This record gives sequence, C-alpha cells and structure tokens, in this order.
Amino acid sequence: MPAAEAAAVDATAAWQRCHAHLVPDAQHLRLPAASYHACDACGGRRGFELVAHVRFGPQTWLNETPLLHCPDCRRFTLTAARHAQCLERVPAIAGHPLTAVDARLWSASPTFLNIEPTTRCNFNCWYCVGRHMVQADIEVDNFAKMLDNFPSLKAIALVGEGEPLLHKGFFAMADMARARGIRVLMLSNGSAFSESVVRKLCESQIAYVSISIDSIDPKTFAESRIDGDLQRIWEGIERLRRYRDANGYQYPKIGLKGTLFRHTEDQMPAIVDEAKRRGVEVFESFQPLNPMVTYVRIYPKDQLRQLDDVPRVAQRIDEDSARARTLLTGVMDFCASEGIPGSNVGRPNGLRPGCDEEWIYSLLSGHVTPCCQVKDVLDPDWNLFEHPIEEILANEHYENTRFNLWNGLFPAYCGGCSKTRATA
Ligand SMILES: C[S@@+](CC[C@H](N)C(=O)[O-])C[C@H]1O[C@@H](n2cnc3c(N)ncnc32)[C@H](O)[C@@H]1O
Ligand code: SF4
Repeated sequence: MPAAEAAAVDATAAWQRCHAHLVPDAQHLRLPAASYHACDACGGRRGFELVAHVRFGPQTWLNETPLLHCPDCRRFTLTAARHAQCLERVPAIAGHPLTAVDARLWSASPTFLNIEPTTRCNFNCWYCVGRHMVQADIEVDNFAKMLDNFPSLKAIALVGEGEPLLHKGFFAMADMARARGIRVLMLSNGSAFSESVVRKLCESQIAYVSISIDSIDPKTFAESRIDGDLQRIWEGIERLRRYRDANGYQYPKIGLKGTLFRHTEDQMPAIVDEAKRRGVEVFESFQPLNPMVTYVRIYPKDQLRQLDDVPRVAQRIDEDSARARTLLTGVMDFCASEGIPGSNVGRPNGLRPGCDEEWIYSLLSGHVTPCCQVKDVLDPDWNLFEHPIEEILANEHYENTRFNLWNGLFPAYCGGCSKTRATA
C-alpha cells in the first residue's frame, strides 16, 4: 500500500490485550492547545497523542510511534497520517495488521536510585519542605534491605530534604554500598566538612559530593540558608580539596548546586568563579524557587511574590549555566566519564512537554516515588524495604503512573512544577 493511501487503524483491542491497566489520565493538567486533536471515530475534540512501540504482523516492531487517544470514546488510533509515516519508515509492514502495542518505554532494570538518608538538618532554609516533614533518619538495616531489593543498582545518590552528613550511620551506609560495587554520590549543605569528615569522605570513596551555594554574599546567603555561614562552607570545600589532593585520593569530585531568587538571579557567575577558586570542579545545576504546589504551601506569605519571577530567574539560570559549563565540568559529562549511569530508565514522549525525571526516588520510609518532588506515599506497595524493585516496577499502578508522567499527562500533584509549566 503506498504511504499516501494509508488508512487509520484502530489499536484499541491491541492496547487492551497488551496492557489494559495503562489508562491515560483524563483529568490531567491541561496540555498545550496544539496537543488536542479531533477524534475521527466519535467526533470528540479532546484527543491527544501518546507514544508506544507498535507491532505489525507477527514480528515487525516500530518504536516510539504516536497513537491518538480519545478520552470520550476511549479509543486508541494510529491515525492515517501517522500510519503513512510508519509505512515510510518500514514499507514492509504494508498489508499487515497492527497486532500489538507496548507503551512501557522505560528500562526493566534501572541502575540509579536516589535515597533520602534523613530529613533532619542544621540549617533552616525558609523554602525547604524538609523542615515541615517528620524529622527522622533512615535505619541502617533498612538501607541494607533496600540495596538487597535492588540488585541492578550501579549508583546511588544520598540526597533528600535534609543534611545527609547529620546521619550518624552515613559512612556505614556509604561503605555498605561501595562494598557492593555501587558508586555513591551525595548532596550537602557543606557546613560539616571538618577534618575528620573530609578524611572519611575520601576514605569511603564517595564518588561525588555536591554543595549548595545560594549567594555570593554572606549576609544574603544567611537570609535564605538560615543558620548557614557561607565563609565556613567555602573553607570546608577548600579543606576537602586540600586533603583529597594532598593524600592522593581521586575522589570525591566536588560539585556545585544552588537555588537563586529574584534578588540573587545575577549571582551565578560570581558564585561559579569563587567556587572554582575554592576547589569545585563540577557544575551540577542551579534552580529557581520551586513553584510546585506541594512546595508553595510551606513558603512564608511575604515570599510568595517571588513566584512571579520564577520564569525570568529560570531563563537567567539557563543563560548563566552555559558559561558555568565552560569553567567547570558539566555533571552529565562527569557522570559519563565515570561510567555513572544517570539516564537509562526512560524519557518523555517528545511530542510536547513531559516529565524527564529518570531516576527512582525513595523516601525515608522506603517508599519510591517517580520523582524527588513527589513527597507523598502514592502507594503502600511501592516500598523498597519490603519489595524487590522488579515487583515495584511491574506493579500496575506504578506502571500507569510512569506511563502518564512520561506522556506529559500530569496529575494534580505535579501542578506548578516547571516541567508542567507549558501545560498550565
Ligand atoms: C533539599 S536540599 C537537601 C540537601 C542539602 N541539605 C542541601 O541543602 O544541599 C537539596 C537542594 O534543593 C534545593 N531546594 C530545597 N528546597 C527548594 C525550593 N523550595 N526551591 C528551590 N530549591 C530548593 C536546595 O537549595 C538544595 O540545593
Ligand atoms: S540545608 Fe538543605 S535540607 Fe537543610 S534546610 Fe536547607 S535546603 Fe533543607
């Protein structure tokens, strides 16, 4: 059949047979207007495209093919235009029926996990949701169970809404991971880099420690990082770099991260220059104040006006990040050069803004969520203290959640996240 004569194909029966539990969320946050299409079958006007692998005949798979879903008649359709594109890609499918679909585009064995070691902290940053969470540490035995339940792990990031180094078992956990051949990364407020801590960071072969710096000015820094002493943090970074280099350790590599506000939006170049001078080598990322609904509810009232400036601050961060990557190694380049996996479990569908969160995040309680910004337990069964990762990944609710996020069909709890901004 010439591509020009391709007809629409109803893929609903194949979808239901292959994974009836993947249900596009009809209540999703609004998509960009151009994402909505008419449904030829029922005349509804709320159709939108999803991405799936589709099979023609007994064995010819076409990867990442857009299918139209109509929430009114619930059909999945390979439209005539998309069918024509399929025929152009693989002419041999002409005359063969569509026989299967697979919309699970993520890896069956992820290798990276974020673990929240503690919600406790010695700082009181006014924008930190951790200050409003139950203050507790992960139990080291539970940490071990988590590693047991995740045999495909190659790297972990010890990071969460607290200061990891406050956990008394931090180095025991890092050593436990290393003993299993797992690379350890971490994020710190940088306040606790005493002589003994920098020695242990080196001896434990932590691969990477990133430090958050919000301002170049000590007074402004202390206004957002309440109880934070910028000078002490710079000195801690220098101490770590000096000790590491003097004693012939290759790790940890030292990274930079931070949050910028309307009154500090122009400070990234100065922070990066100073960080480099003090011994920082890797540029991780800067972010504006998080505008997500779950974060905004904890902000002091007098800070809410800052949210109006988030898009502008984000734009400035993008511009200044390019310069930062000329002075420091970008974190993705660093991970690639170290063989640290960061991106192997999926990606958004590419048709419109979607969630590119690729790592699995685990809360203090052992529950995994699809993203570090989702702090609520979404399902009691997604618990890594109790269940192997394969079981969680195969859990139908979990699959459906990932499926929707990667197709940009965001539930209400994602409201305000920068990745949903274009859909707001
Ligand atoms: C929650 S902290 C935890 C790790 C460590 N205590 C630290 O401060 O780096 C992780 C990062 O998230 C940033 N962060 C926390 N809450 C934020 C918010 N509401 N908006 C933007 N960035 C935020 C912090 O600045 C920090 O870089
Ligand atoms: S240092 Fe990190 S964990 Fe501590 S209050 Fe600030 S953002 Fe939260």
